Amino acid sequence: MVKFNTLLVRGGAVDDNNTGAVNVPIYNSSTYRYPHLGDQVEYDYERSGNPTRAAVEKVCAELENGDRGFAFSSGMAAIHAALALFKPGDHILIGDNIYGGTFRLINDFLKPRGVEFTEVDTTSPDEVEEAIQDNTKAIYFETLTNPLLRVSSVKDIAAVAHENGLLTIVDNTFLSPYLQQPLNLGADVVVHSATKYLGGHSDFVAGIVVTKTPELSKQIYDVQNTIGAVLAPQEANLLRRGIQTLNLRMDRHLSNTQRIIEYLETSSKVAKINYPTVDKESADYQIVEDETNGAGGVLSFELKEGLDVKKFVNNLHLFILAVSLGAAESLIEVPAFMSHFEIPKPERLEMGIKDELIRVSVGLEDADDLIADLEQAFKLI
Ligand SMILES: Cc1ncc(COP(=O)(O)O)c(C=O)c1O
Repeated sequence: MVKFNTLLVRGGAVDDNNTGAVNVPIYNSSTYRYPHLGDQVEYDYERSGNPTRAAVEKVCAELENGDRGFAFSSGMAAIHAALALFKPGDHILIGDNIYGGTFRLINDFLKPRGVEFTEVDTTSPDEVEEAIQDNTKAIYFETLTNPLLRVSSVKDIAAVAHENGLLTIVDNTFLSPYLQQPLNLGADVVVHSATKYLGGHSDFVAGIVVTKTPELSKQIYDVQNTIGAVLAPQEANLLRRGIQTLNLRMDRHLSNTQRIIEYLETSSKVAKINYPTVDKESADYQIVEDETNGAGGVLSFELKEGLDVKKFVNNLHLFILAVSLGAAESLIEVPAFMSHFEIPKPERLEMGIKDELIRVSVGLEDADDLIADLEQAFKLI
């Protein structure tokens, strides 16, 4: 088996074309010919399988060290497929700080259809264990919480889950397999919004599920083929291309993030920085050290109370005011007014999301330019 960086570039390759093309062709065909009636064919219809999609699914499985990968038309479609493994009367524990869209899927779609959920603080394996019921089937969480970047231990949660016969499902969007491989830490299913770091360029939406066992693979395949939210071949090709440079991009995301944190630490306008490596005495830092190759390219910070957050973000030139993350360009957003606007203010404050909190997805620009942009905007408030 070749190493991870080689897999990124060469994984999933197919050589079934007649031209010698070094890249997997984009197979724009919804249907496929049967040579003879009664023949078994690998591909018969695009929803069931497409060679361009299959190539990117294969590389994702290899990168996450899983049995099989599945590419969906969005991260939400991938998460829906993973949660479609459960039926009415099943109970699932979910991290209390997971992505808002996943909460919407759970509260507005799955709960009314009889699947039960309980929110737990996954930074505490004891709390997870206490919340297990007779009908609990799985625990679903994200390693890093958004936007406060608290850390849950995949190893510890998966250990609790396995002792109790539960599946562990991890949304690995924020770290990508370059920084964490949850299946190697005991998880059973990994999901991604491949819209973010895997794709890496803010030019399409996609989702990935990777399964650990053939039994889970069969179940996810059946969901994918039945519900039909598959990734189109053009997007599968863009995802393949994005994945080839994941290592280079993540290294730059990490080094730029480190530079920005060092700068923010010197600023008199900043009250607090949220990123797992800021407090080297913290349990979060220890988990990041033990279970990841780095804490990723998203951080958040609070302006000191009374400072004008709107004026600050409106005066940035390089940081783009936009939700999403994990792309080449740096994005900035204010959770209280954007990504977490739907949460009532008292609840939001209880979660630690103040109006002055700013989330940054650090891009690949020159760190000096990013810091100069922050500096000029700080001077205006
Ligand atoms: C952690 C996480 N999971 C899932 C999603 C949903 O993915 P998508 O927008 O690709 O449907 C997002 C989107 O922001 C996310 O941040």
